[in-house]
Amino acid sequence: MSATATRTAPPTPKEKHWLLGHVNMLRDDAIGMLRGFIEQYGGIYSLSIPFHRGVVVSDPAYARYVLLDNNKNYTKSIAYDTLKPLLGMGLLTSEGDFWKQQRKLIQPAFHKKKLEELTAMMVERAEHWVDRIDAHAQRGEAFDVLPEMTALTLDIISKAIFSKGVEDKAQVVGEQITLLNEYTIERLHQPIRMPASIPTPFNRKARKSIDLLDSVIYAIIDERRREGVSKDDLLSMLIDAQDEETGVGMDNKQLRDEVMTIFLAGNETSSNALSWTLYLLSQHPEVEAKMVKEIDEKLDSGLQIDFTTVNEFQYVKQVIEESMRVHPPVWMVGRRTIEADEIGGHYIAPQTNVLVPIFYFHNSTKYWEQPERFMPERFAPDKRNAIDRYVYMPFGGGPRFCIGNNFAMLEMQIIIIILYRKFRFRLKEGFEVVQEPLVTLRPRDGVQMVAERR
Ligand code: HEM
Repeated sequence: MSATATRTAPPTPKEKHWLLGHVNMLRDDAIGMLRGFIEQYGGIYSLSIPFHRGVVVSDPAYARYVLLDNNKNYTKSIAYDTLKPLLGMGLLTSEGDFWKQQRKLIQPAFHKKKLEELTAMMVERAEHWVDRIDAHAQRGEAFDVLPEMTALTLDIISKAIFSKGVEDKAQVVGEQITLLNEYTIERLHQPIRMPASIPTPFNRKARKSIDLLDSVIYAIIDERRREGVSKDDLLSMLIDAQDEETGVGMDNKQLRDEVMTIFLAGNETSSNALSWTLYLLSQHPEVEAKMVKEIDEKLDSGLQIDFTTVNEFQYVKQVIEESMRVHPPVWMVGRRTIEADEIGGHYIAPQTNVLVPIFYFHNSTKYWEQPERFMPERFAPDKRNAIDRYVYMPFGGGPRFCIGNNFAMLEMQIIIIILYRKFRFRLKEGFEVVQEPLVTLRPRDGVQMVAERR
């Protein structure tokens, strides 16, 4: 699939605005539009976006080619540019040799041994949350599980990074992260984008959120530098990490960028996945009953939840994997060509944004039997290996694969086991859950549920 003399660009769907192309449709119903075009135009088509080139690839072989085989010819796509004012040169948004070096420095923080050390903290924080949920259960009132899951995952990620939590600041951090998520997507939908440095009302609001988050993070970095004592957490690992050749460490700005990236990437995604899981379980009592039975049997037999035993709750894991199939928290990833390329016999010009619609791969009848059904049995051990890595990819693919995937699975498995040990969750009567594709795939108005003690 290397660049050849072929000059035919992928077909462009004709249904579009004469001036704005597909921008309005993307804003109003991105998932519906992208899926509709895939059905009409097949494995590869062009999008019409003023001043930009866009192509959507919906064949797993093309996804693999872009994310893995020819990844050297690709940077991150335009969507990640809008994250740069927030994440700077952090792992998610940096490129090339700089990214490679940072990934190498940060990778040890996610090694098995490190995760093992974090397990007790995750269990302790999830148990602490049981009391909060219990207060709702006792009142018998409906509550939105999304902010609860956001606060819990924020609590866990902040303890992993800083040893201590940011309890007193959790609300402000959670709110600002949600706001920035909305700003980012709004910015992405603006046909003409003002640079982030120009003080438009929109940019000023975003700046205020970033400043608030910065003040929390810089204060903790400053305190750690002042103390001069290394702790057993991610921040100390980042402060102590040095380039092998030059011996130079990260300055405060780079530390801030990495911390903010891990904060954002490790919170928003997991809290959405957990909220979707609670919702799906409430809609499928037979799956819930099977999962609860597994949890009860294991715990009644005296099994303690720790790093090695957590995977014995096999069905819990399958439930989470299936939930991320139906509602992938990262619903699309994108890359941008450096030099011209060729995909599926089509010419792809330099600087083309190539979009990989994960939500489509996860929900297409091409790759799954009855994809509309919530069926964790698909991920049973004897079937799991047969699933194509580029059909099911909640954590992405290629070298930019999610660095926190094992962290996320561990954390989510622990939270689900601990919550369902004590509760069942029912959707509030008449409440409708609506999927909204922002940077992550969120339940638009949250998920109003009632917790019932088991
Ligand atoms: C359910 C939870 C999660 C999901 C679905 C998820 C998904 C993803 C995906 C799809 C990517 C690739 C993006 C791309 O290719 O452009 C990614 C990258 C990343 N994720 Fe996650 N993630 C999750 C949890 C986490 C956690 C818990 C952390 C950190 C503690 C984390 C940190 C990162 C970072 C730093 C990157 C950038 C990696 C790089 O480019 O080298 N993620 N994630």
